[in-house]
Amino acid sequence: MADRYTQFTNSSVGKFLAPKLGLPMPTPLRRHEPGQAPLDGPALLGAAKSGRLEKTVAEQLNSAGIEVRTEASDGGTYGALVFDATGITDPAQLREAYDFFHPVMRQVGYCGRVVVLGTPPELTSGKEQVAQRALEGFTRSVGKELTKGATSQLVYVAPGSESATESTLRFLLSAKSAFVDGQVIRVGTAGAGGATITAPNNWEKPLDGKVALVTGASRGIGAAIADVLARDGAHVVVLDIPAQGADLSHVANKVGGSALQLDITAADAGTKLVDYFTERHGKLDIVVHNAGITRDKKLANMDEGRWDSVLSVNLLSQLAVNATLLASSVLGENARFIGVSSVAGIAGNLGQTNYGTSKAGVIGMVDSTAPAVAEKGHTFNAVAPGFIETRMTAKIPATIREPARRLSSLAQGGLPVDVAETIAWYANPASAGVNGNIVRVCGQALIGA
Ligand SMILES: NC(=O)c1ccc[n+]([C@@H]2O[C@H](COP(=O)([O-])OP(=O)(O)OC[C@H]3O[C@@H](n4cnc5c(N)ncnc54)[C@H](O)[C@@H]3O)[C@@H](O)[C@H]2O)c1
Repeated sequence: MADRYTQFTNSSVGKFLAPKLGLPMPTPLRRHEPGQAPLDGPALLGAAKSGRLEKTVAEQLNSAGIEVRTEASDGGTYGALVFDATGITDPAQLREAYDFFHPVMRQVGYCGRVVVLGTPPELTSGKEQVAQRALEGFTRSVGKELTKGATSQLVYVAPGSESATESTLRFLLSAKSAFVDGQVIRVGTAGAGGATITAPNNWEKPLDGKVALVTGASRGIGAAIADVLARDGAHVVVLDIPAQGADLSHVANKVGGSALQLDITAADAGTKLVDYFTERHGKLDIVVHNAGITRDKKLANMDEGRWDSVLSVNLLSQLAVNATLLASSVLGENARFIGVSSVAGIAGNLGQTNYGTSKAGVIGMVDSTAPAVAEKGHTFNAVAPGFIETRMTAKIPATIREPARRLSSLAQGGLPVDVAETIAWYANPASAGVNGNIVRVCGQALIGA
């Protein structure tokens, strides 16, 4: 559902007026629908000399039902341009990326995809490290040049993790990643190098048999996460404070899951969760820490209650719950921890020292916990949403809300489902090599990294 401005610019009057007035022209994004083709058009696949991923990627795209072409044609559009840059070991060779993309940049179709695959620079040295790091500037700039809802991403794949990329490629090429743009993703790092990758029996229901917990799920982004995880086959336990009980039951019924009324900041929240999941389900496979609050004031005007409550819900309670879960035996094999940070935790935000601190803390939580949980076969990642159309953002004064919505490469706000789809990719059993990532779901917001 497009916002009113996007509806206007896509009407016949808007299409005429907006370019004349120099106004942004957001494209209504293609989003996932059941039975949809995995990609809207063929993928053009190229590689720098001696790339180590091209063959595996071609097989993965074929198995996803995507038509792969290796020779560019003069006409027509591509659903995606995919380039294996792992063979680039010297900055002079970056020219190979130019040579592949330059002739076909105008052939990226509506909501098309650009994906560049490289080697994590920190695992290389010398000229190769320089060249691989340079790819970030390339893909982020491409993201800013693409039009018509198209996106650009860089996936760094650790040597030895070549076969661990399938869930990531499927996600990035599909409409599920509609609002993910200009991101850098690492596969096979943060201790996940030796992870066992289990391809789901059914890619339409990758979470069959899994039990998930989503906190703050009575509305907004949490309700969308519950919906998408249930669509993918998980039994979802939705959690929220007792005051949200009625909405929570509604969500639980809608997704065929269960409702759990609990304040996540309660001292015994972790123990209650261990008991609940052990007794009712015998395990817990996916933990999504979505509950979050804002209590905005400039620091000089902020009372300590605002500081304490935001830190408590958004960070401290999550650390405490994780510690209790990890110390128990309730976690299933290859469990997934998923945090919800925010672009405000990356760029900071006026009036949000408490919120920005807590959300940057979520990133710290991923950094510090991911390598340790990898030793147990689990993963720990987070999403960092930008402007998402929810009750939280509807409350922002219109003069701030409208520029915030437009200041991204996609010139619009995202939807709760965009955050949910990204979380479902982390939760996928085939994402065992995806660990320690912070992926912004922000349409390449022009603020922040
Ligand atoms: N909306 C955005 O644009 C945006 C952007 C960046 C990050 N986020 C983050 O996404 C998450 C969801 O945001 P939303 O917009 O859906 O917000 P929301 O206010 O609509 O939903 C948050 C939910 O968390 C619940 N909650 C609050 N305190 C709780 C507690 N102590 N125990 C259990 N549940 C509790 C609330 O009752 C509510 O249902 C939050 O962490 C938020 O910070 C949102």
